[in-house]
Amino acid sequence: MKAHIVTLPGDGVGPEVTAAAVAVLQAVAARYSHEFSFEEQAIGGCAIDAFGEPLPAAALAACQQADAVLLGAVGGPKWSDPNAPVRPEQGLLALRAALGVYANLRPLQVHPALAALSPLKNEKLKNVDVLFVRELTGGAYFGAKTRTADTATDECKYTVAEVERVVRRAFDLARDRRRHVTSVDKANVLETSRLWRSTVQRIAADYPDVKLEHQLVDSMAMLLLTQPSRYDVVVTENLFGDILTDEAAALAGSLGLLPSASLGEGSNGLYEPIHGSAPDIAGQNVANPTGAILSAAMLLRHSLQLEAEAVAIEAAVDHVLTHGPHTRDIGGQASTTQIRDAVLAAFEAHADTAEAFFS
Ligand code: NAD
Ligand code: IPM
Ligand code: MN
Repeated sequence: MKAHIVTLPGDGVGPEVTAAAVAVLQAVAARYSHEFSFEEQAIGGCAIDAFGEPLPAAALAACQQADAVLLGAVGGPKWSDPNAPVRPEQGLLALRAALGVYANLRPLQVHPALAALSPLKNEKLKNVDVLFVRELTGGAYFGAKTRTADTATDECKYTVAEVERVVRRAFDLARDRRRHVTSVDKANVLETSRLWRSTVQRIAADYPDVKLEHQLVDSMAMLLLTQPSRYDVVVTENLFGDILTDEAAALAGSLGLLPSASLGEGSNGLYEPIHGSAPDIAGQNVANPTGAILSAAMLLRHSLQLEAEAVAIEAAVDHVLTHGPHTRDIGGQASTTQIRDAVLAAFEAHADTAEAFFS
């Protein structure tokens, strides 16, 4: 198949991990006879430096016309002055809003070879397989902001329609998994959470085959650590989802491991690792590209409907996590490019085996 993919490497380690993910997509194209064209555009701090704005019109237009968008990360100390008039993160938020990608899928699995890196006891990490569905285009991120010398506000607003579409997505996804949805809110305090909870309850009636539970976000933060294997699909609002998924990454062993897919109604999705620009390790060729490479696998699955290719990448990543090499964040010495090469080698070996099997 033909597909046009826009890449937004961004700042810090973004370009390093995106390059690894693009190399893997190129290998997929060669191996499976697809024609993928890649177009690089600027977003974030580097776009502010070059064009004065974090999401230049040309970058947005390219993303809107693409079959899928692969993003690295934005932000960094250079652009983090609290009084800065324009910020890299605004570019990312504007892009998510413009693409209408309201459902952010963040899968968490704990690889057995890495269980020792987790702060939790190994037995708690068996069978951890959670799919977080984070609402991505509403809530406090997008409400009105005000600021005077001594007061600031961030409005947190949700409409029923905004809640309904992401919650339906979560229930639909649960039907292909273990049929269990946990909805996380703060309905004991927040009005938006009460609207969220009553909407979830109404929608759940359409999914009698899916078990629903509600959990308050503070206790959820604790339960995620004490009983992570209990959860299947976890759906929550924007800010809670941001925080809980970085917490979840600690179970996996590193923030560098987790991918994400941001989806709207069309097939054009936005794919990015959940980590940031990691300024402390940027430019050293040591960032873990696994989250970015697994995001590329999600791109193949969700935007291009190339399930076999996605599985082949995931198998290659699994092989490298099992046998090494590993980057520093997960206890190894390997560089970003060495992991890229190891995943490419495992991918080719896997494809050879599959070909031999089917021929
Ligand atoms: P961060 O995710 O960049 O880094 C947190 C810690 O995790 C650091 O110690 C970092 O070295 C480590 N880490 C992150 N990714 C890694 C990888 N691939 N391999 C190995 N280690 C990795 O979070 P932060 O430091 O809070 O934020 C830095 C900047 O990134 C901020 O400007 C923030 O706004 C931005 N950010 C952007 C995105 C995004 O573009 N999607 C996401 C999160 C944060
Ligand atoms: C993420 C990031 C972003 C968010 C920031 C950079 C705007 O933390 O993708 O998780 O909060 O959504
Ligand atoms: Mn985050």
